[in-house]
Amino acid sequence: MPLLRDLFLKLSTNKLMRDFVVNFPLSCRVSRRFVAGETLDEAIAVVKKLNAQGLAVTFDLLGESVSQESEARAAKDGYLRALDAIAANRVSSQVSVKLTQMGLAISPDLCLDHMRQILRKAKAIDTLVTIDMEDSPYTQTTLDTFKTLRDAMRFDNVGIVIQSYLYRSEKDMQMLRALGANVRLCKGAYKEPAEIAFPEKKDVDANYLTLAQIFFDSSSPANGAYLDLATHDEKIIKWAKEYTTRHNVPRDRFEFQMLYGIRSDLQRQLAREGYTMRVYVPYGTHWYPYFMRRLAERPANVIFLMSNLFK
Ligand code: FDA
Repeated sequence: MPLLRDLFLKLSTNKLMRDFVVNFPLSCRVSRRFVAGETLDEAIAVVKKLNAQGLAVTFDLLGESVSQESEARAAKDGYLRALDAIAANRVSSQVSVKLTQMGLAISPDLCLDHMRQILRKAKAIDTLVTIDMEDSPYTQTTLDTFKTLRDAMRFDNVGIVIQSYLYRSEKDMQMLRALGANVRLCKGAYKEPAEIAFPEKKDVDANYLTLAQIFFDSSSPANGAYLDLATHDEKIIKWAKEYTTRHNVPRDRFEFQMLYGIRSDLQRQLAREGYTMRVYVPYGTHWYPYFMRRLAERPANVIFLMSNLFK
């Protein structure tokens, strides 16, 4: 249902709609299906529960597209507190960060400084920070920032997301594979024009396999590269299991990842089968755009929302 997807993606950036939805108690309740809570304590409680089920976690303090330096600083401080809480509670969790939340659109230097502080603290507790990929105006600067942090600033605990809906991703993937980077491969959640992204879902899915194969290619040097297969798509997961078995790709070179609240049954099954299965756990008060993107992905979620609203 591409029309519904487009509508919800458009609404995800609409301020009037945001104010309406976030002030509507029932939508807050429904959003809890995808969001661990509004506070760090609530999020830590969810991480403990997931860890107890054998699931690894990456935390996401919700927020994006900040326009004030003070907001970016507050988000950075929020991440530093989350890293302290991960250590203090002895939970197993990485973190995921959006660069526009760290001030990328205000000043790239401000964003770099915030990322440096987060990466330093994450390094001290031996955990990874993955940079989420946002919409296409930020693709190149996000990759550039990743390379600066990794190569110029020498952080080895930073990863990056690649989206299979972008035509450019094949080249980006080859570059990241050669670097030996830690890459999270997803399909892509934003509305992008056909000039730069596959309009057809079947092509996005096919490109996902192409990009994963670039990474798994056993003829490439084993240089520490690591792939996160971030998808709930059962066909892709089945393909990945078969491909990695057939090509002897060791299980310590890749993992599966899914979003909190989506296909929890499959998450537990993969963990039981001995794969590393990481759940992306978002929390915080800025849940509106994230929530709308989850509705856009699946018409059934809109029906779920509506049925709860009118109960
Ligand atoms: P697809 O959309 O084909 O869905 C396959 C199946 O999964 C569906 O049939 C359904 O069963 C289930 N499913 C998928 N979405 C659902 C939903 N919202 N509600 C209920 N069921 C659903 N995107 C991005 O642009 N930048 C990023 O940085 C990230 N980061 C990221 C991290 C992680 C860990 C994950 C798992 C995903 C992302 N994404 C993302 C989102 C990603 O691009 C994509 O939009 C979603 O994962 C949905 O795509 P699938 O691969 O699951 O396939």
